[in-house]
Amino acid sequence: TLIRLNDYRAPAWRVAQVELAFDLGIDTTEVTSRLRLLRDPDQHEPLRLDGEGLELLSITLDGEALPESAWRYADHVLEVDGANDGSVLETRVRVQPAANTALEGLYLSGKRESGFLLTQCEAQGFRHITFFPDRPDVLASYTVTLRADRDRFPVLLAGGNPDGHGDLENGRHWARFVDPHPRPSYLFALVAGRLQKIEQDYVTSSGRAVKLVIWAEPDAIGHCHYAMDALERSMRWDEQAYGREYDLDVFHVVATHDFNMGAMENKGLNIFNAKYLLADPDSSTDDEYRAVEAVVAHEYFHNWSGNRVTCRDWFQLSLKEGLTVFREQQFSADMNSPSLKRIEDVALLRRAQFPEDAGPLAHPVRPAQYSEINNFYTATVYEKGSELVRMVAGHLGRAGFRRGMDLYFSRHDGHAATLEDFLRALGDANAIDLMPYLAWYSQSGTPRLTARGHYDAAQRTYTLTLSQHTPPTAAQPQKQPLPIPVKLALFDRAGRMLPLHLAGDATSTPAATTERVVVLDRAEQAFVFHQVDAAPVPSLLRGFSAPVILECDYAPGELALLLRHDVDGFNRWEAGQQLAARAFDNLRDGAGTSALDAWCDALAALFGETTLDPALLADLLTPPGEIELSERERLVDPSRVHALRLQLQERLARRIGGDTLLQRYEALASHTNRDLDALSQARRRLKRRVLDLLALVDADRAQKLATLQYDNAPSMTDRLAALAVLARGNAPQAGAALVHFRQRYADSPLAMDKWFSVQTQLPGDIVLARVRELEADSAFTLKNPNRVNALFGAWARNNPDGFHRPDGSGYRLLAERLAELDALNPQVAARLATAFNGWQRLEPTRHAVARAAIDALAGRPGLSRNLTEIVQSMLHD
Ligand code: ARG
Ligand code: ZN
Repeated sequence: TLIRLNDYRAPAWRVAQVELAFDLGIDTTEVTSRLRLLRDPDQHEPLRLDGEGLELLSITLDGEALPESAWRYADHVLEVDGANDGSVLETRVRVQPAANTALEGLYLSGKRESGFLLTQCEAQGFRHITFFPDRPDVLASYTVTLRADRDRFPVLLAGGNPDGHGDLENGRHWARFVDPHPRPSYLFALVAGRLQKIEQDYVTSSGRAVKLVIWAEPDAIGHCHYAMDALERSMRWDEQAYGREYDLDVFHVVATHDFNMGAMENKGLNIFNAKYLLADPDSSTDDEYRAVEAVVAHEYFHNWSGNRVTCRDWFQLSLKEGLTVFREQQFSADMNSPSLKRIEDVALLRRAQFPEDAGPLAHPVRPAQYSEINNFYTATVYEKGSELVRMVAGHLGRAGFRRGMDLYFSRHDGHAATLEDFLRALGDANAIDLMPYLAWYSQSGTPRLTARGHYDAAQRTYTLTLSQHTPPTAAQPQKQPLPIPVKLALFDRAGRMLPLHLAGDATSTPAATTERVVVLDRAEQAFVFHQVDAAPVPSLLRGFSAPVILECDYAPGELALLLRHDVDGFNRWEAGQQLAARAFDNLRDGAGTSALDAWCDALAALFGETTLDPALLADLLTPPGEIELSERERLVDPSRVHALRLQLQERLARRIGGDTLLQRYEALASHTNRDLDALSQARRRLKRRVLDLLALVDADRAQKLATLQYDNAPSMTDRLAALAVLARGNAPQAGAALVHFRQRYADSPLAMDKWFSVQTQLPGDIVLARVRELEADSAFTLKNPNRVNALFGAWARNNPDGFHRPDGSGYRLLAERLAELDALNPQVAARLATAFNGWQRLEPTRHAVARAAIDALAGRPGLSRNLTEIVQSMLHD
């Protein structure tokens, strides 16, 4: 059954107040709920509450026990007769936390003897805990009482402010929490168990004293200090950048190793996948430190963009997610390097979102329909959603965007809003109509932006003609033109930016600016620049000003010029990426090497520039990934793409020269430390890249250096980089290092995940056997989402050559495991199944075996709604 955006109706029944009481136990927990109901006088529907897998123990209405004839519980809905406006409904239900392998609702993290209880409610987990109108537009005030055995559950937490605690008989105790802010049910959370804490006092800019508390299991609590630091910085940043303060007396954060997603912004009680909260130099890489910083900020920022202002319905998910990703990206850019951050985000968009938009799973940022909402926590809703906010923010400028956000927050505080509300508030605050951007939210597919330049020497004019076209997607054959802001500059042949004189420019920025934005809002439009002395080189879509694919017939030398001279780090990288893609074409087609030569020459020159940021250099030296390169192919042969990309890098390594690489490696190695300052991180990043390149021209030498680096590594970043070189090289040294790693980190789940992942990157023809060995390892389990993703996710997504075996063995293995996993955890199974995305464009041999594997999976009885929806869309295109 499909849920449709257009079928939205306001709730017939709302809930003013919720009182919940939990009698917590590992095997069974009893939940008593008292709901004070509000009826919409204009609607006449009976009271219907959502509830899944609940054992109903008792039910009373306004204090009277209800006869069986007065209620019905079927198909996940409890229907109750006789309720009125103001009625109080009390239900008591039993649930089974330890048996809950789906990790949705109330479940057990860790072992039954030592683990703890926790909840995950977004999107529809609350209905697995108690009966409720489980939809985000029902906002209620919550009072939550937890009762449990004191020894087994010494720590009892729920969202809101603490409101008393005490002892009970039989070694039990209780704690109560009251949340003064009305909120939707998906933000409910509780945690109970043997956790330890670190604490920090925080005072908001207006003087509210807040206690920040991070909770983790005893072996992990020592790794929470970085997260605490990131949390304080996030809170300060949101005060300064958006004027947003925290609004409760306490803020709790909890780490768990058993979590379906990254983290969850429950009001006053954020819960994190340990992967995004714990950080220590011995088991976390630099990238992971940055991810912790970003996710801590993301969940904190949700307190305003998500919690204070929430979503009317799940179609509006990007209202909170796209906006919060954007805020998180701004924060990370401020904390680190803006251009490196932009490179990272655009690379992610291209790797994860463009393929989604180009295949059978394509959906608009605001989907029109869904069967299972958990399948829509996608790169499109999150990452493309963030790009749409970025475009609008760019349109309004810094001050205008802040004005708009202030209005949005004040107008919708305490309410459930829509994407229209968002654009309207931003527009109203600036007296601008932003509604044309709404089309971006309802149209799927990545627009192709074509740019053609023409220089007229006699007139001294440069005419830039921009046109757009969005290829049809399965559900949307017709596409309309979208407003595309194109930030641009013109360079002369010496690499200097030209002053821009745009014809007919009424809205003109002050004369002679060197960078500006033009908006293409129809199929095609020409922009004429005056007083141009010679044919310029355009630098287009600067900062990636719109989420489109740019097609522009640059000569290789022009891209090389931008790669050498563009002042913006992001755009240098971008020119290099385009040039590398063309170099890839040179190798594939065997027709000419002009792009290949230009790319190698430009990078070899940059390699010698001592003033360049080592981290940027590392990124410049990295060509587009295999997934991105495959997107450019009509028919995809993943092995060929893999081989050609290796060849491309080998050419680059030869052009730079083995000795030069070695010298640079040694210079970088002489700075080895475990510090987290930007320069130390940048050096590690470049060192890793240089070692990877060296491995392509002098494998023996690289293996020896990697062994040394592995043995002497002061941090996980260096250790893992070395292990990756050894594992990929599959030399004898690799075995010893892997055995050592397995032993040394046996007690660190996050490090063990890396041990699994790194081995999925073996060469394509031997990796499958290794995957089978790894899943037989005693440390592997299908019950832990991180472990599943570390093995199957890393293999199927990050090693296309190793997954797409021509005989279909990879597809069959994944399909079989998906069916097993689905019986345990449908959300994780469905997400992993998207690794099949793109199969339609595979070359004929693989196409046939992929289809057979997916067909066989689709034909299995009893698949979850989650997995069914993904597999079915995969087949219908
Ligand atoms: N709102 C969470 C975030 O910060 C994601 C939770 C999604 N969970 C799920 N089961 N779909 O992005
Ligand atoms: Zn989020």
